[in-house]
Amino acid sequence: MIQQVGNYYMLHTEHTTYGFRVMESGHLEHLYYGRRITVEDGEAPEALAEKFAAVPGNTNGYSEEYPALTLEDVRLEMSSYGKGDVREPFVEAVHGDGSVTSDFLFAKAELLPGKEKYRTLPGSYGEPGQVGHLCVTLADRQYGLELELHYYVYAECDVIARSARLCNRSGDPVRLLRLMSAQVDFDTSDYVFTTFTGAWAREMEKTAIRVQAGKYVNASYTGTSSNRANPFVMLSRPETSEDFGDCYGFHLIYSGNHYEAVEVSSFGKLRFVSGISPQSFCYLLAPGEDFESPEAVMAYSWEGFNGMSQRMHRFVREHIVRGEWKRKVRPVLLNSWEAAYFDIDEERLLRLARAGKEAGAELFVMDDGWFGTRDDDTQSLGDWQADRRKLPGGVAGISRKIREMGLAFGIWVEPEMVNVRSRLYREHPDWVLQIPGKPHSEGRSQRILDLTRKEVQDFVIEAMGRVFSSGEISYVKWDMNRTFTDYFSGGLDAGRQGEVAHRYVLGLYRCMEELTGRFPQILFEGCCAGGNRFDLGILCYFPQIWASDNTDALCRAQIQTGYSYGYPMSVLGAHVSACPNHQTMRTAPLRTRFHVACFGIFGYECDLTEMDGEELEQIKEQIAWYKEWREVLQTGEFYRGRTFSDGGGSCLSQRKGNILEWTCVSADREKAVGMLMQKLAVPNTRTETYHAKGLDAGARYRFASAGGGGESCAAYGDALMYGGVKLRQAFCGNGRQEGTRLFPDFASELYCMEKEKGKK
Ligand code: DGJ
Repeated sequence: MIQQVGNYYMLHTEHTTYGFRVMESGHLEHLYYGRRITVEDGEAPEALAEKFAAVPGNTNGYSEEYPALTLEDVRLEMSSYGKGDVREPFVEAVHGDGSVTSDFLFAKAELLPGKEKYRTLPGSYGEPGQVGHLCVTLADRQYGLELELHYYVYAECDVIARSARLCNRSGDPVRLLRLMSAQVDFDTSDYVFTTFTGAWAREMEKTAIRVQAGKYVNASYTGTSSNRANPFVMLSRPETSEDFGDCYGFHLIYSGNHYEAVEVSSFGKLRFVSGISPQSFCYLLAPGEDFESPEAVMAYSWEGFNGMSQRMHRFVREHIVRGEWKRKVRPVLLNSWEAAYFDIDEERLLRLARAGKEAGAELFVMDDGWFGTRDDDTQSLGDWQADRRKLPGGVAGISRKIREMGLAFGIWVEPEMVNVRSRLYREHPDWVLQIPGKPHSEGRSQRILDLTRKEVQDFVIEAMGRVFSSGEISYVKWDMNRTFTDYFSGGLDAGRQGEVAHRYVLGLYRCMEELTGRFPQILFEGCCAGGNRFDLGILCYFPQIWASDNTDALCRAQIQTGYSYGYPMSVLGAHVSACPNHQTMRTAPLRTRFHVACFGIFGYECDLTEMDGEELEQIKEQIAWYKEWREVLQTGEFYRGRTFSDGGGSCLSQRKGNILEWTCVSADREKAVGMLMQKLAVPNTRTETYHAKGLDAGARYRFASAGGGGESCAAYGDALMYGGVKLRQAFCGNGRQEGTRLFPDFASELYCMEKEKGKK
């Protein structure tokens, strides 16, 4: 709900309020973002506004008319350079005369119906009844620039989204150096800035920095949203825990270079900005042209990290993920990659698929290696015709045989890339991002197709369209396996090379939009060497993303926990693989591998034809159990308990950081699935306890280990949540080592909880 009281604008969600006002000077002062507050119609909340008496020493008064106003010490809705604010700006542009000073003042505000589509970018969506829209237009006092700030209020998710549009209404070309998406100025600086950084196979490491003085930046320059620094970040109070305390979460609906900065001002205020990374960004705006910034998404909760995460999860599920697969149960998948890598042929794939079918899998995915002469990763990207040596009947042949087995068929592609060893490169050497006449820095022996060019986008759309209709294809894994170097497009002149990174992302979005529109029945899974492009931009097209190439259960538990702060587990691909694990060489029990993977979009990625009978039997049971409980896991509300990144003790003690607890509760709280996992076995220790979360406190639940044999009881929700359930005592091997629990390294337990009928 959007409330206007005089020049005050209060944006209310069910439990939060965001407010700003137009100051006498025409600037927008940010007033408040937090727990919902009551504002009477006709009574402006003046108490929230800053009172300006005099400028602090050694700062500048804004103007002769407002000498007591210094923009350096006001909480602003958007900020620019040159009129006294020396903090991170929201917008920076070089005007026709070379000046970089801008001064945006209020022009008008309009309430608009619902959420329109952006011209160039993906965004959230919602019916007019679900989303309120406020557009505030500002005009540069000195130059002919116009800035629209759009606010979208998703009341039932407690989410506010923002974006901006800058229009050049001057008679000169303008060079845009940055246009952020969100800016939130806080009154104090006592916050913790949490980012999710990492690398390939090590995505989403949670890092919390206690903000003091200066500036902290989370950004990517890989050309993608990146595994180095995911665009999702949080600000919380030092005392905030999983279930209590203030927490703000910020997303950006964008898949390229991004930037999130936190800056403490000299007067103790904290500014947060997020948007496209300004590094090497320069966008030329001719008179009359405009530029849209990606949509930023903000959620606040006073119920700790879990409270904020759940709001984001709901928002992503309801207002980001779309299409036929939005509410469809996702099939159990078997992928050929870690089973066979490039060494595939029809016979081997069919054998694998048959073993998958027997175990209960529903979808078989043929990963890399099926096209051109793709015997390794040095060749054939771009040549999207089936390799007849491996697939005599082509894609049509193998997909038909897999279908006849009773499995759906899926295929891997990497549309944005080309190997130099390919027909495509020989025919179109100029279709890649590279600097003519200069040496090129290669990654995985491949180059990036120049998606800033329409003809290259058209090629991708046409080539992929042909692949997707070349057989009975139900699923596509869309991969992308390198980071950007040599940012340069032969299709743009010298003055526009600073636009390449952004134009690439727009080109990619066009390809995804066209192809998902043409093949609505296909379940698309994004992939970028695992999590190198895991963001809400991709999720606007593809309902799930492969979270990491690391399938080791211990690492995965940590990586998935990292994602869970900003993303629901229902968008996160997670597979059981073989041991010793191919990335870490670690051996974790098969049941732990299953327990961790089943919380995500679940599948297997190992050679089932090589497994012994006992393992295959276990896998059959796992799949049968999963099918019974997957609706809770795929649609339920997710809660973190203890996590491996809880600080404060060595994991060889009983202290923090050795135990992980997850719980997923169905929307009606009738059913829940819980997991407790430990890193390392601890000798001579007390029994561990699992604490459920999110249950109906006053209802009685049957609680049992998945598959039976473990803990089992009936108890009220409150007892399961606040008291917890002690793990059964079991003793080591020969039983002589009394007191030593048989709960080995990387062990886990999975629990099913179901309300007892007629007990309330
Ligand atoms: C990287 C992906 O993340 C893997 O799952 C696999 O598809 C390979 N690429 C294939 O080259």
